[in-house]
Amino acid sequence: MHNFEQIVQAASAAFAATDNPDALEQVKAAFLGKNGQITDLLKGLTKLPPEERKTAGAAINRAKEAVEAELNARREAIRQMALEARLAEEALDVTLPGRGQPRGGLHPVTRTLERIEGLFRSIGFDVADGPEIEADFQNFTALNTPADHPARSMHDTFYLQDETGGVAKNVLLRTHTSPIQVRYMQAHVAKYASLATMPEIRVIAPGRVYRVDSDATHSPMFHQVEGLWIGEAVSFADLKGVIGDFLRRFFESDDLQVRFRPSFFPFTEPSAEIDMAFMQGALKGRWLEIAGCGMVHPNVLRHVNIDPEKYIGFAFGMGPDRLTMLRYGVNDLRLFFDGDLRFLRQFV
Ligand code: DAH
Repeated sequence: MHNFEQIVQAASAAFAATDNPDALEQVKAAFLGKNGQITDLLKGLTKLPPEERKTAGAAINRAKEAVEAELNARREAIRQMALEARLAEEALDVTLPGRGQPRGGLHPVTRTLERIEGLFRSIGFDVADGPEIEADFQNFTALNTPADHPARSMHDTFYLQDETGGVAKNVLLRTHTSPIQVRYMQAHVAKYASLATMPEIRVIAPGRVYRVDSDATHSPMFHQVEGLWIGEAVSFADLKGVIGDFLRRFFESDDLQVRFRPSFFPFTEPSAEIDMAFMQGALKGRWLEIAGCGMVHPNVLRHVNIDPEKYIGFAFGMGPDRLTMLRYGVNDLRLFFDGDLRFLRQFV
């Protein structure tokens, strides 16, 4: 009997000396395993005289149950210890203030584009988009731009490479947003082909354009907003009204002047450059060029199967980067595209 109690105590002490499940299972084997002490005692029963076996067997079984109880108690204790260690390690102070999300902001040029879109939508213009990798036809040919036009030169235009690494002459990064005029008119004509009189076209198209150019007022990537209004009686006077109104609303000021200076573009006739001047402030009285415009050339309409005898209209292409510089008083265009957050955060 005494002997059995010692075994239980030894087991309890050995279990207590372990502090993880693996070690505990190892120690368990020494008592309850195939060659464990309790197992050996049970095997020894056969050597006892039959009249002693019953009491001895019962005593061994009690010892075995006691060892198993010790084992289970230790298992539970180890599980608790592990849980507490983990809770301590992953402790979370829910009373701490949150970390907060930094607020993002729109790029100043994006703000300008959204503003322009809003103003033109308010007078019934659609907003269209087009590919930045453009075909020669839409970028030049359809816009009445002859093959010897300087804009087609490799010095001005980013052409793409073909599979052999050579220049793919008919695929390029668009040099202006004017090709969207062509795409929009083509889609419009296809959509209303069955009508005797097609609905008016009134659209602006903002987007990125590319030229081989870089200095304080030119970046190889910049933005343009194209405008187009085609109908049966759209005049130069309408163009002046739309642009003048737009600029006054954009700058929230009646204190500005707008002038149309004769110019040349292959896709308009007559053509003009639009200048504006503030009548107050640091830039007072200085004329700033902000867009090109004109009455859409009959050849452009012919290229998209619109009858120039029946339809007429105006187009313009303006520089929203320039408008952003004026609105915020920034004097170097490149600052907008350097991605320096210290600069950009000022506009949030
Ligand atoms: N596409 C011209 C450019 O990039 C700007 C322009 C001028 C667009 C006259 C027009 C226009 O639509 O009518 O320089």
